Amino acid sequence: MNILVTGGAGFIGSHTLIELYKAGHTALVVDNLYNAKAEALHRVEEILNSQFSTLNSQFSTLNSQFSIPFVQADIRDREALENIFRQNEKIVNGQVVNGFDACIHFAGLKAVGESVAKPLEYYENNMNGTFVLLDVLRRHGCKNIIFSSSATVYGDPNEIPITENCPKGQCTNPYGQTKSMLEQVLTDVQKADNEWNVVLLRYFNPIGAHPSGRIGENPNGIPNNLMPYITQVAVGKREKLGVFGNDYPTHDGTGVRDYIHVVDLARAHVAALQAIERKQGLAVYNIGTGHGYSVLDVVKAFERVNKVPIPYAIMPRRAGDIATCYCNPKKAELELGWKAQFDLDDMCRDSWNWQRNNPNGY
Ligand code: NAD
Ligand code: UFG
Repeated sequence: MNILVTGGAGFIGSHTLIELYKAGHTALVVDNLYNAKAEALHRVEEILNSQFSTLNSQFSTLNSQFSIPFVQADIRDREALENIFRQNEKIVNGQVVNGFDACIHFAGLKAVGESVAKPLEYYENNMNGTFVLLDVLRRHGCKNIIFSSSATVYGDPNEIPITENCPKGQCTNPYGQTKSMLEQVLTDVQKADNEWNVVLLRYFNPIGAHPSGRIGENPNGIPNNLMPYITQVAVGKREKLGVFGNDYPTHDGTGVRDYIHVVDLARAHVAALQAIERKQGLAVYNIGTGHGYSVLDVVKAFERVNKVPIPYAIMPRRAGDIATCYCNPKKAELELGWKAQFDLDDMCRDSWNWQRNNPNGY
């Protein structure tokens, strides 16, 4: 399939490009580089070039380096999106047809804390960006979309492990609200026109990096999330980790989450294309491992696997955090044949491999 990948230069998008190409798909990336660097795409190309021999025959015949088509544009820019569609049309039986089989929609702002401080910017970017994108997709007859949703839509879940039948909950921040509202928008769009195939992937906590250490998570400023903070302590950029609360009702009092290796998450997108090929209409999947680890479990695993000490101090709870969040990922396994392959040790090893080889990111 030829896939339009919005936000493809970002953390999850860049890893997904590798898995798409390895599975024989092709992609065009549209990203405004607000939270990414073009260098990430160059590194994706480098990784794919080094794996050339195992790639699909359409590439193995090429001696030259191949490049991933990339347009630096904002998805709120309708004209830019229209141009991308016009320039990628193909001729089939003498007819001009749309050149994209599906869209994987990663583009969006994602920092929870920042979204509380800048709600308008978050609503405007994430909602309007998706509205413009959906309208252009529809106009060009590309009615297949995989949307990056989040475990955050469950709020404080009333059932653990969380299944897809668990009702959506109250999101505590504007970022989460955009995910929840966009799920509803996509659901309504599909309901109104059953030519659409919509896959909502609810990611749990993506960490890790490509095992090559060439691409990984590259947060701006002080990291909000646990693993990038740990790796920055490990590399000496931060003195110690603050553990946000040790009085939760969990086995050691610290928050429990379902961490998933970003390469497993990337592969879930390739698997989700099957739901589109089968014309499943609307489909929702939890994408996690089904295992819950506490903050201190992650710290200990990181220290053991990488033999690097992570000093930490217990701090007050962080506003909006919940005690425990992990999923039942069986639906994705049964319907898509997708199951996470990497464990917490792999995630700690690959996160550190990326950070230590790229102490200042890209
Ligand atoms: P990221 O910030 O690394 O990637 C998002 C990309 O979208 C960036 O490259 C950014 O430049 C781009 N972008 C943002 N707004 C844009 C716009 N208006 N037009 C064009 N490009 C735009 O984030 P990520 O971690 O790779 O996340 C990808 C998606 O997955 C996001 O939608 C995020 O909300 C969702 N998600 C992430 C997590 C996580 O923990 N990383 C968890 C659940 C869901
Ligand atoms: N934590 C710390 N110290 C830190 C950072 C985090 O103790 O410096 C703790 C948190 O309190 C929580 C756990 O580590 O218990 C995980 O926190 P993250 O910030 O890494 O992840 P969250 O579960 O809070 O949220 C992440 C994304 C959300 C997404 C959610 C579910 O940030 O966007 O996963 O996918 F919605």
